[in-house]
Amino acid sequence: MRTAPCPFVTNGHGLNLAAACDGVRTMNECHRGCMKPPVSHPLFARAYACSTPAMDRAGAAEHRRRLLMRLTGRVIEVGAGDGANFDHYPAGVTSVLAVEPEQYLRGRAQQRAARAPVPIEVVDGVAEQLPVSNQDFDAAVVSLVLCSVTDQDQALRELHRVLASGGQLRFFEHVRAESLVLRRVQRLLDATVWPSIAGGCHTGRDTAATIGRAGFRIDRLHHFRFPDVGLSLPTSPHILGAASRVSPVRDTG
Ligand SMILES: C[S@@+](CC[C@H](N)C(=O)[O-])C[C@H]1O[C@@H](n2cnc3c(N)ncnc32)[C@H](O)[C@@H]1O
Repeated sequence: MRTAPCPFVTNGHGLNLAAACDGVRTMNECHRGCMKPPVSHPLFARAYACSTPAMDRAGAAEHRRRLLMRLTGRVIEVGAGDGANFDHYPAGVTSVLAVEPEQYLRGRAQQRAARAPVPIEVVDGVAEQLPVSNQDFDAAVVSLVLCSVTDQDQALRELHRVLASGGQLRFFEHVRAESLVLRRVQRLLDATVWPSIAGGCHTGRDTAATIGRAGFRIDRLHHFRFPDVGLSLPTSPHILGAASRVSPVRDTG
């Protein structure tokens, strides 16, 4: 296990629950020292798991299929939730390591993994400190996760670290709006109620810019509204695309 400092101490996430957690410890030590795991949203987790079938019927299933199409080799999926992507992995994928920190969602994902068309192992962990070695994977997948991670830059540096040279990052995320009015609403929500009612989610993140900053070259980027009906909501603007790991691994320690 690498020895990067615990990312959850000084960022206002409210997770510094024990004096033992001093920000110098590693994530693993932090798990032991703190009184609860870093990602725990029991109500949101249950509500989210209930909503994924309806989301899929409203079009998310098709976006998930496009997200994963033509993927091959060893894949890491981060923040896998209840495993809503699992059925869509194509046959060229030899294995998936699905990382999910939320206990309830991880349990649901484990049940789904057993019925998936490709071999999937579901493990505990957070995006900011992935429990794997450098350059272990041919592809990494994130869907509707980078809005919720505590430290988006650190999560993307980790995704960059674990991908082999030329490896692909596939992403499907809701992001900052183009319209100034909607952007203002996003800022207001993000600074007030939204993260606490939606499992740490932020509506207004400029995720494509963060992907570029982490050393990825964006090869495909599709902007769209989801759901594509009625008025635009703060969570309507989405991106779906692929990026390649082009620059060398950075030292995140
Ligand atoms: C909106 S759900 C999306 C789940 C799934 N990827 C999907 O497409 O349906 C957000 C997910 O991000 C996970 N998450 C939140 N913070 C995280 C972190 N720091 N590292 C990894 N996953 C995280 C949550 O537990 C949850 O499963």
